[in-house]
Amino acid sequence: MATDIIYLNGEFMPLEEARIPVLDRGFIFGDGVYEVIPVYSRHPFRLPEHLQRLQHSLDGIRLANPLSDPEWTRLTHDIVARNPGDDQSIYFQITRGVAKRAHEFPQNVKPTVFMMSSPLVTPPPEQVENGIACITATDFRWLKCDVKSVSLLGNCLLKQAAVDAGVIEVVMFRDGYLTEASASNVCVVRNGVLLAPPKNHLILPGITYDVVLELASVDKIPLEVREVSEQEVRAAQEIWITSSTREVLAVTALDGRAVGDGRPGAMFRRVHALYQDFKQTVMRRAA
Ligand code: PDD
Repeated sequence: MATDIIYLNGEFMPLEEARIPVLDRGFIFGDGVYEVIPVYSRHPFRLPEHLQRLQHSLDGIRLANPLSDPEWTRLTHDIVARNPGDDQSIYFQITRGVAKRAHEFPQNVKPTVFMMSSPLVTPPPEQVENGIACITATDFRWLKCDVKSVSLLGNCLLKQAAVDAGVIEVVMFRDGYLTEASASNVCVVRNGVLLAPPKNHLILPGITYDVVLELASVDKIPLEVREVSEQEVRAAQEIWITSSTREVLAVTALDGRAVGDGRPGAMFRRVHALYQDFKQTVMRRAA
């Protein structure tokens, strides 16, 4: 098997050779941000949007962007070219760099810039066909969930609770309202209307969320972006999760109870098909 090639602070190298000093603030404090970009047929999907969100995350932690958008774009294409597989998942991480351990920001320290590629694992057809089961939990994370921070302990604990319960994801509520899932956004269908929580500090502004809402709106699906109560989620005919790696999936069981009739709904099937077509069209245009 070909060796994975990563990018670290200006150099490409095999993954096994990459080293980070233990005083890196990413390691010590989780002081950094990240992005995950799906690549189809060697074309990064929605890269400008991911770079825009990266800038939003960097602004959110007051860290200057170490690279320009053209530099990020060139590096993304480089890392894709150096790694095997047409469909990849590209991971970027920027931390505040290496400094003596002290909570306040260090002065004149270069950020650590890391990029890697993994094979893109999209949902198995069985999950698209039958949907997935989820549990619910109280969203106990911090109040800057719009920042794609590498401090993911809350998300990891929540995801593990789902795994322990034998399900795929955890749908979260804060103060009685839907936020998101541990690594995906959530929207629901009630009485023929697609309801999506607003993009604010309580959720990650998902790139896939945007794609799904754009497709729904072009398809004239009634859409409301507003706070969605826990009651509305529990009474929903359909629940979907969206993310760059899961695309769009139907949740067909929530806390052991069937959602709707327990099968992926008609609106999900429509939007899932539109999503697949859209991906193909975008990639054909990029080729
Ligand atoms: N996670 N919400 C959270 C908390 C997420 O971690 C993610 C993505 C999303 C969906 O965002 P997008 O559609 O832009 O992928 C929502 C990535 C895939 C991850 O951490 O691996």
